[in-house]
Amino acid sequence: MSNSGDDRSEHELRVSKIHNGTVIDHINGGQALNVLAILGIDGSQGEEISVGMNVPSDRLARKDIVKVEGRELSQDEVDVLSLIAPDATINIVREYDVVEKHRVERPEVVVGVLSCPNDGCISTGDEPVDSRFEVVDDGVRCSYCGTIVREGIASLIEH
Ligand code: CTP
Ligand code: ZN
Repeated sequence: MSNSGDDRSEHELRVSKIHNGTVIDHINGGQALNVLAILGIDGSQGEEISVGMNVPSDRLARKDIVKVEGRELSQDEVDVLSLIAPDATINIVREYDVVEKHRVERPEVVVGVLSCPNDGCISTGDEPVDSRFEVVDDGVRCSYCGTIVREGIASLIEH
């Protein structure tokens, strides 16, 4: 495999290394802000975040990268990220070193994470029903009403 991408990042450092936290790498180009939305990060809490968008990459034509200082992501968060960033790599950084690296995996179902856009759906009414979506090839499908969501999944996230 060519390492030209690595050389390039050595020569033109766009985003600094982090001390402790998570680097979400190989996000599909243009999805970084949706990744931040999934993580519930909007900067208002003083979080230290670096974002690179549409930077050259070996693996993808263009990639986004998000670095979150001082926070290690939970499996639930990573599961939802996989829906919009299926090629992402999660790097856990401690004392400047990458101590864990794994690819995201698409879960079969996500429960209590996304809210159904169908107002008539039983999961969005007064009943105490947890939302439940099956992950299908081209999006997510509400298990209660069958609504399929392909675009804008990040905007359905419950916080
Ligand atoms: N990184 C960082 N801060 C650190 C260590 C690493 O921001 N203290 C970033 C690197 O800039 C890179 C990512 O975390 O974007 C993964 O680091 P590393 O595994 O060292 O890079 P690669 O080997 O190029 O990763 P991959 O093989 O997954 O492309
Ligand atoms: Zn529904």
